Amino acid sequence: MSHGVSKLGVLGAGQMGGGIAQVAAVAGINVTVFDSFPGAIDKCKGVHKKSLGKLVEKGKIAQGDADAALARISFVDKLDALTGCDWIVEAVVEDAGVKKELFTKLAAMYPGENVVLASNTSSISITDIATGAGASAHRVIGMHFFNPVPLMQLVEVIPALQTSPAVKDRTIALATAMGKTPLVANDRPGFISNRVLMPMINEAFYAWMEGVAEPEAIDGIMKLGCNFPMGPLRLADFIGLDTCVNIMNVLADGLNNDRYRPCPLLKQLVTAGRVGDKAGRGVYVLAAK
Ligand code: 3HC
Repeated sequence: MSHGVSKLGVLGAGQMGGGIAQVAAVAGINVTVFDSFPGAIDKCKGVHKKSLGKLVEKGKIAQGDADAALARISFVDKLDALTGCDWIVEAVVEDAGVKKELFTKLAAMYPGENVVLASNTSSISITDIATGAGASAHRVIGMHFFNPVPLMQLVEVIPALQTSPAVKDRTIALATAMGKTPLVANDRPGFISNRVLMPMINEAFYAWMEGVAEPEAIDGIMKLGCNFPMGPLRLADFIGLDTCVNIMNVLADGLNNDRYRPCPLLKQLVTAGRVGDKAGRGVYVLAAK
């Protein structure tokens, strides 16, 4: 099945939205990125230049293809300016209320039967988000990319209970066309990726809190002994400690099981503002670049 996308709309010019826009553009798809936060668009343009520059430097992509990809990306700061987009991927803040309200608006603004409304949420129920789209719920699906999007191979595809089989097949086709490997998971809290990853990260915080080992040793053991590219505590900094807390709470509430509650030390670091790389400090202090 063909994905049938001629123009992709991406909502959110942050780390994830920007990355999704970049890989789509490299795959030859025209992209319009929406963000209304002051400065977000300029920041995203800078990230695209840097990331594509790195990929050129490493011989992964030719300079001409990188330039062509950049030329395929346009930016808007109004939600109703995504005219002509036949697929929208949302990568805004991880808040169920915000996303549901957004999908209500999107369903009304982009009523075309063939327009797919996808969410890049890492753990919020796709079925719940789809209810926001009302009668268009069958056009809603989870399309979960991983950070850093240009380098990570997976797209976790999560059909809502309401998603039509055709939308699922087109999502698999689009992810493949974007050079990714799509794998399907059902809509249960944390899907597969965060259901498995986050409790492991949480356990690493418990091990640290209990004095089993210091962060460098915990991460070193998992890197050298289990071949992880980053140790779990370093990865928590990379993802964001606040995001880790939110996802653990989604697991605990959604699976009705307190064994998924975030570790007290993880929560304490978040309270202190040590939320990871984006704050310059989490488990580790980020070396100045
Ligand atoms: N674009 C292009 N190049 C990039 C890049 C990007 N966005 N990000 C990093 N690179 C480049 C670096 O510049 C570096 O280039 P260099 O070798 O010339 O210096 C190269 O990639 C390798 O990076 P590093 O040397 O910094 O480090 P690594 O070799 O460890 O690779 C990594 C970086 C790919 C991020 C690797 O550490 C890794 O795979 N880490 C795990 C990432 C992961 O688990 N992501 C999933 C997080 S969970 C998630 O996203 C889901 C959510 O729901 C929580």
